[in-house]
Amino acid sequence: MALPDHPAPRINPSILSADFANMQSELARIAAADFVHVDVMDNHFVPNLTFGPQMVERVQATSPIPLDVHLMIDDPDRWAPGYAEIGAASVTFHLEAAADPVALARRLRGIGARAGVAVKPGTGVEPLLEHLTEFDQILVMTVEPGFGGQSFMPETLPKLRRLAEEARRRGADVWLQVDGGISSETIGQAAEAGADTFVAGSAVYGADDIDAAIAGLRQAAAHHRH
Ligand code: DX5
Ligand code: ZN
Repeated sequence: MALPDHPAPRINPSILSADFANMQSELARIAAADFVHVDVMDNHFVPNLTFGPQMVERVQATSPIPLDVHLMIDDPDRWAPGYAEIGAASVTFHLEAAADPVALARRLRGIGARAGVAVKPGTGVEPLLEHLTEFDQILVMTVEPGFGGQSFMPETLPKLRRLAEEARRRGADVWLQVDGGISSETIGQAAEAGADTFVAGSAVYGADDIDAAIAGLRQAAAHHRH
């Protein structure tokens, strides 16, 4: 699905680093960003627990910008379509957890969401290469999923290079997202490797001036563009 008003580089702040008790004002603070990144965790796929569909529905109703939902949950084949039905612009599930990733991506697109698939740092992207046109976004995790505030893992960058090269070769219009440890220091490496969509939690919500932090990330990414 084309969203022409969101050209690369896209900056998606993660509300995992926001103050959960003041979600409405925390969402208002990131109005200058592209998408709000919503980390759904189930205490099974990852050792942490966050939001479920009711909370995501309230975020959807309150957010000034569209939702980029990242599902770190078991059995996404069963649960992911519900997040698309709520109205999330983008729904990303983990390759490691999905029984039939291509069928699930088709269902998400059928509901009207962008379909995303994510890989943990230790998971290869080879199985995705021949299906690139089935997805609107591929998320290469640059930390082990579960918690904000971890250090960026540069050893994940070759996967981005591989995906960017293959997407170009096949003419696939797929966004390449990174998530974990993205800051003004690390975003350039990810952009250079081919990422065009950047999740940042602590680098945005930990900043004194959120608008300046978003603008700074955008500028640094654009400067190192692939
Ligand atoms: C981690 C989440 C991330 C997290 C990133 O599992 O998927 O979205 O919020 O936080 P930072 O940017 O602080 O690494
Ligand atoms: Zn995430």
